[in-house]
Amino acid sequence: MSEVKPDLVDVQIDGVWHQFPKGTRLIEACRQAGAEVPHYCYHPKLTSPGNCRMCLVETGMPPRPAPGAEPPQPDESGHLPISWIPRPVIACANTVAPNMGIRTTGAITEGCREGVMEFLLANHPLDCPICDQAGECTLQEYSVEHGKGESRFREKKVKKPKNVEVGPRVRLDDERCIMCSRCIRFTDEIADDPVLGFTDRGSHTVLTVYPGRELANNYSLNTVDICPVGALTSNDFRFQMRVWFMRETNTIDVNCATGCNITVYSRQNKIYRVVPRQNNDVNSDWMPDSHRLNFHWIDGESRLAEPMVKENGGHRVASWAEALAKTADKLASLSGAEIAVIASARMTNEELFLVNRLVKQIGAGHVEVVPRLGEADGYLISADRNPNTNGVKLVLGIESPGSGLEGVKSGIEEGRIKAVLCLQENLVEDGGFSPELLGKLDFLLATYPLANPTTGLADVVLPGACWAEKSGTMINVAGRLQRLNKAVEGPGQTREPWEIVRDLIQALGGGNGIYSVTELFNQLASEVPEFKGLSWGQIGDLGISLIDTGETIPAIEREKQRKAAGLIVG
Ligand code: SF4
Ligand code: FES
Repeated sequence: MSEVKPDLVDVQIDGVWHQFPKGTRLIEACRQAGAEVPHYCYHPKLTSPGNCRMCLVETGMPPRPAPGAEPPQPDESGHLPISWIPRPVIACANTVAPNMGIRTTGAITEGCREGVMEFLLANHPLDCPICDQAGECTLQEYSVEHGKGESRFREKKVKKPKNVEVGPRVRLDDERCIMCSRCIRFTDEIADDPVLGFTDRGSHTVLTVYPGRELANNYSLNTVDICPVGALTSNDFRFQMRVWFMRETNTIDVNCATGCNITVYSRQNKIYRVVPRQNNDVNSDWMPDSHRLNFHWIDGESRLAEPMVKENGGHRVASWAEALAKTADKLASLSGAEIAVIASARMTNEELFLVNRLVKQIGAGHVEVVPRLGEADGYLISADRNPNTNGVKLVLGIESPGSGLEGVKSGIEEGRIKAVLCLQENLVEDGGFSPELLGKLDFLLATYPLANPTTGLADVVLPGACWAEKSGTMINVAGRLQRLNKAVEGPGQTREPWEIVRDLIQALGGGNGIYSVTELFNQLASEVPEFKGLSWGQIGDLGISLIDTGETIPAIEREKQRKAAGLIVG
């Protein structure tokens, strides 16, 4: 018999012996062994009610010897023979036992799956061609893999409510619901807003929102993500694009310092949806609605697409060369003490690294960022609405971001500061700089993705790519270094902010020799001690823990507690 470590048990899965920690659910053991068990109601981050019965598997244990009979002998692998139990069990709620056998294939399990599929499809509309879930519907997928291919149901299907608005962002088609209860458990266990439930019995059971309530919490769209069929759909995304046409880009959310891991779905340079991506150190499987829907402005009408210079009180389109030369000429005529650089804590580490070089090159007397504070929601939304404040501290060396802004304002007021380079920030709307104050400057450069009151005042305006149009790294509230990846190209002549700062350095006579963001990361890693020895590839899709900030993410702490209490697999 193989050596059994104290908390590991021997389990045979489809004829091969493995070891798993005690308490492992059968479904997880099978998954780890490479035997996928189809399931609907099971979700590792939610409790397991075991109500869909799709995960039935055959199990067995060594036989108990009859009184007085010879005990069974181990086979050549050292294990006792398995006596298979004719009644299948659900894999999602049962845990492994020593010397247990599991069969995920064979007449019993396959027959069970066919039966469950036939039952689920009895009242399910066969509207896949017009269903928004087509392409990512597990009912559709399992019908092909585990269904009978025919139905014995000749009666009329039960009609149920269609196109019900259960909340401002979520729509319900009850006919498609397979009563897995994932959405009900999510609202109860994760969102703390238990507004969904089942009413009526048998074939007439419907999912409904409690009278007088609506599914309106800021996590409501996660129910759409976890609904295994097309019963819950997003008002924002439904009927916009077939999922198989879209490109998926793994990146991070930049709406706050948590840095939820996300996947951006795009087609022909247009973003159609953003969904959370699992990272058990950052956002688990979830993200707030307000963050995932904050992308429509990216292809809006206010985008800046060309460099512009001020002329006769208005702006005219200029070439990059002209705009950069105008900026360099102006800066060359000023002393460093007369120049302030306002960068952004929405910039990547690589961009901030180049900002640092620019500051040194022109000897700028002031360098600051604009803080952006809001209220934490106690789950995933951080009070810090900037995604890279820790990068500002580490790479730009600003201990207390924002503390020097008043000094910049008084410097402008008193005429000591004559030029401001505003990089990816909006000084008027977010930095508290009045238009009158900025009007006192001799020169204002503004780079930003959108036209705003600050760019309206600027002598030179440069179109800077937004978060979805650039790559780089950021450090989240808990000190995790994560990668931002370009999902779409910026409009017109937009450049990534690191390219803009590099070009500015070059226009001012500095060398650059940097042609990619990974090259830039390598330079950063060779100069900033905390990054030492790191490579772009090492960061991977899930990031790495870089520094200890002493901060945690409430959602992750809560998940750990639920896992420790045995409520979820995690
Ligand atoms: Fe499950 Fe979707 Fe029905 Fe909710 S709406 S119970 S998630 S099938
Ligand atoms: Fe096991 Fe639904 S996944 S009963």
